[in-house]
Amino acid sequence: MEVLTVNDLWVKYYTISGIVSAVSGVSFKLRKSEMLAIVGESGSGKSTLGLALLNMVPKPGRIERGEVILDGVNILKSSPREIMKIRGSRISMVFQDPFTTLDPLRKIVDQFEEFLIEHGVDKTRARSIIKEYLEAVGLPERVMYSYPHQLSGGQKQRVSIAMAIALNPQVVVADEPTTALDVIVQKQIMDLVDSIKEKYKSSIVLITHDLALALERADTVMVMYGGNIMEYAGKTELYGNMKHPYTRGLFEALPRILQKTLPKSLPGNPPDLRYPPPGCVFHPRCEFAMEKCKSEKPPLIEVSKDHIVACHLYG
Ligand SMILES: Nc1ncnc2c1ncn2[C@@H]1O[C@H](COP(=O)(O)OP(=O)(O)OP(=O)(O)O)[C@@H](O)[C@H]1O
Ligand code: SF4
Ligand SMILES: [Mg+2]
Repeated sequence: MEVLTVNDLWVKYYTISGIVSAVSGVSFKLRKSEMLAIVGESGSGKSTLGLALLNMVPKPGRIERGEVILDGVNILKSSPREIMKIRGSRISMVFQDPFTTLDPLRKIVDQFEEFLIEHGVDKTRARSIIKEYLEAVGLPERVMYSYPHQLSGGQKQRVSIAMAIALNPQVVVADEPTTALDVIVQKQIMDLVDSIKEKYKSSIVLITHDLALALERADTVMVMYGGNIMEYAGKTELYGNMKHPYTRGLFEALPRILQKTLPKSLPGNPPDLRYPPPGCVFHPRCEFAMEKCKSEKPPLIEVSKDHIVACHLYG
């Protein structure tokens, strides 16, 4: 069953130095209890897409077109009041830096309580929810009375996750939730995200630049480049049948412990999205680029069941 449907989503930033095409015509569906990983290099539009899912793109950004349908309602058409209610209760977000969510000057209990009360929970119930969810993310009760600076990075991220799941949203968007943490804590936080998915049946959108993490943890993987979907498939299908030259480039760039050869880094840099390359946005870096790649944008085609690719080499 689908909980979220995104149709033809376009987002641009109107900056002083030009118009940035950050997300260009993205569509996908997210099922109940599915973990979708959105993978791509820096600047590929992952965070912008994540923010657009909560109708939270900051100025000078603008959602130009498209639909984000959560439980039958297009939240891009919801009023500011409705959207404030939906955010946190039906769809929520965990950021890379927990300081984005947590106010350093206020105790955890005060800010957590305020968030719950804003969403219509009464004070007594709020206290029990806070206790329950701090415990669910593996934190001792005393954390309630701490200030964020008294907690480690991993603990702060656990608090952010507790707040993001406390009202049982159908969808949690986690934007690089482990990038700021050391490897051991990264694994603990990802185990926690996995367990939340199982326990609360939430659907997770995991935004990451790390294809290995996506292949390890997610159910489905969407590879983005230059604001476009390049490839999208279930993780087992993608791992066994990687098609797009960009996905393969990301894969070959992964360090592998057991291999004697060095990883091969992708040549070149992501495009300046004020001036996205015509045709296939990846063509300036693609070793297979043909003449038509420079002028014709490849459509997304299904190469096998539920596996879609945007590349002129296929179809
Ligand atoms: N607030 C903003 N104002 C102007 N341009 C922005 C803003 N935020 C993002 N952009 C631009 O939009 C494009 C997509 O950026 P976005 O942050 O969505 O990419 P990303 O894939 O999340 O990258 P990263 O891995 O570095 O987080 C980039 O060209 C970026 O410079
Ligand atoms: S469409 Fe052309 S340039 Fe783009 S990835 Fe495929 S072969 Fe490379
Ligand atoms: Mg980002």
